[in-house]
Amino acid sequence: MSRIEKALENAVRRREPLQAPEPIQQTPRREGLPLTPSNPRIVGFGDQTAFVAEEYRKLRSILLQLTKRQTYLNTLMVTSSESGEGKSLTAINLGLVLAQDYNHTVLLIDGDLRRPSLHDYLGVKPPFGLADCLLDGVDVSRALMPLDNGKLTLLAAGRKTDNPAELLSSDKMKTLMREVKGRYHDRYIIIDTPPVLPFAETHSISTYIDGVLFIVKEGTAMTNVAASLDILKDGNVLGIVYNGARKDRTSDRYSHYYDQYYRRTESAGISEASHV
Ligand SMILES: Nc1ncnc2c1ncn2[C@@H]1O[C@H](COP(=O)(O)OP(=O)(O)OP(=O)(O)O)[C@@H](O)[C@H]1O
Ligand SMILES: [Mg+2]
Repeated sequence: MSRIEKALENAVRRREPLQAPEPIQQTPRREGLPLTPSNPRIVGFGDQTAFVAEEYRKLRSILLQLTKRQTYLNTLMVTSSESGEGKSLTAINLGLVLAQDYNHTVLLIDGDLRRPSLHDYLGVKPPFGLADCLLDGVDVSRALMPLDNGKLTLLAAGRKTDNPAELLSSDKMKTLMREVKGRYHDRYIIIDTPPVLPFAETHSISTYIDGVLFIVKEGTAMTNVAASLDILKDGNVLGIVYNGARKDRTSDRYSHYYDQYYRRTESAGISEASHV
């Protein structure tokens, strides 16, 4: 064997062994805490939610198309320009309908450390949450709360903190996201966030997640929408959910099927619809 051949052989022997591929696992289905939602617009729990659930199922199928590319875009955030546009409710309802899909499990993260609401909306009291993991080193697995049939898990906001912007843009947060993102191949991660215009952390979160779902409530000033989308321009805005639309603004040729639900919601003084 020539010296060159020997050197090559030695070099091959010295090479680091290939990293074993990450085990591809499905999220374990642990029986979860029963939900006692506090809001009648949470799908499946209010008597006016059949039409709304149908809108969320449409949103689900569009999202599945947009996110199942070569690289699976499974970390999503929900945001809007201003407060009260329906971010938290959308995050929950989307989580619920995605978890109904046979192929997926969902982790809902309350990334609104200023005005956390997911646990209240869902009627649960998690002992720990995101801020406890980031500030006090609580293991994420202790803070995850399986709900319902175990396909939906909540990581609540956790304890109060004075510096949510710093915390949510910290390396610790990015590491936590990498950890939860890579763990299960069937899992969508949906982060509820504060509105874009008043708070800095929403922009930070948009830089390390795969896709942004932007909520626009009917009546929001277009200048605010444009300013927010400009702030989010480095993120991957997947689409806009138009929330609180009046019936006469929606153009669904199948809507006659849901007329009775429309009538019921209108008689209750509520109009809702969501479109991407
Ligand atoms: N389509 C809708 N029709 C009627 N009411 C709605 C609709 N969407 C949300 N709401 C109501 O608006 C209020 C705010 O909703 P939600 O908490 O989801 O907004 P948010 O954007 O998360 O607010 P915040 O910025 O304060 O976190 C709730 O009382 C909710 O029930
Ligand atoms: Mg909210």
